[in-house]
Amino acid sequence: MLLTVNGRPRQIDVPDDESLLMTLRERLALTGAKAGCDRGECGACTVHVDGEPVYACLVLTRAIEGAHITTIEGLAATADVLHPVQRAFVSCDAVQCGFCTPGQVMAAVALLERSPSPTEAEIAEAMSGNLCRCGTYPSIRRAILEVVSSRAADPAVLP
Ligand code: FES
Ligand code: FES
Repeated sequence: MLLTVNGRPRQIDVPDDESLLMTLRERLALTGAKAGCDRGECGACTVHVDGEPVYACLVLTRAIEGAHITTIEGLAATADVLHPVQRAFVSCDAVQCGFCTPGQVMAAVALLERSPSPTEAEIAEAMSGNLCRCGTYPSIRRAILEVVSSRAADPAVLP
């Protein structure tokens, strides 16, 4: 079957019961999405499937044949330039152990793509499926708001 992962076509052969998270991590060596709970409770495995954020642990790879997947590894335009949301996470110190961070960033990017100027309530709602055992929630909120305000000042700022 064919998947396009981070813009690159990948021809793979997977068993019917393999999750997208397993495919990404074990078959394609993309280990940014993390296996936290492996049962749809923590958000550490969040990736985008055809532009929508999903828990990769709950998606069967076979069910999304032909889909376009974006993982944290494919977010930045180039290896040297971080995505604006990644930059804001760094500047707002929104990372402690980092385990939840790829999923948090992917959820935040999806939010900002569908809602360029979210309210704090919208941010809380959109990010509620991504848990952080280190309690970085206030800094993550600040990072998202920083992207919103930099985009207000300069609409060319992605995403
Ligand atoms: S690992 Fe998928 S939601 Fe926790
Ligand atoms: S930074 Fe440690 S789990 Fe979120």
